[in-house]
Amino acid sequence: MDQTHVEGDLDLDQTLYTEEQIVGRLQEMAAEIQQDYEGKDLLLVGVLKGAVMVMADLARSLDRHVEMDWMAVSSYGSGTKSSGVVRILKDLDTDLNGRHVLIVEDIIDTGLTLSWLITNLRSRGPASVEIATLLRKPEAQQMEVEVKYVGFDIPNAFVVGYGLDYNEHYRNLRCIGTLSPHVYS
Ligand code: PRP
Repeated sequence: MDQTHVEGDLDLDQTLYTEEQIVGRLQEMAAEIQQDYEGKDLLLVGVLKGAVMVMADLARSLDRHVEMDWMAVSSYGSGTKSSGVVRILKDLDTDLNGRHVLIVEDIIDTGLTLSWLITNLRSRGPASVEIATLLRKPEAQQMEVEVKYVGFDIPNAFVVGYGLDYNEHYRNLRCIGTLSPHVYS
């Protein structure tokens, strides 16, 4: 769905990035990734569920073979806050030994999930593990996470759309928008 389908929705504040801006930025990131991984195999690891749209567009912007696998993790926390205590709900099907792994994320907020995930994947004997994220919130970050590819640095607001949800809604919104503070404050 696009903005017209959520017009009059008092929970949505403003559009942050249009679909065109998002896809354009992902194409730039894909070009960088393609150059960096030339001559190497590449395994993209998407983190469910938010990264589904990013993975779909990023992977299709790569003019080369890649493999894709998925993890589902749950970060314990209340409401809009995560805690850093992470549980694996669905693990990878792929053996990471000797593989070049690129974690694909929709957003890095506090950094707690990714900080845990990168340590976990690095313990499995890969050749390399890096992170690509569409969005990052520098002001909200609590853990230092080295991120190789970042789409956009955004302000510390609650964002939805393009895979990102609020109570499982808005994931299928084409653009990325901010949620009105009255919804979560
Ligand atoms: C989001 C996002 C990251 C995590 C980032 O997932 O996809 O995995 O939060 O937050 P952090 O930097 O504060 O740890 P979420 O837990 O909302 O699950 P979802 O992808 O299923 O929506």
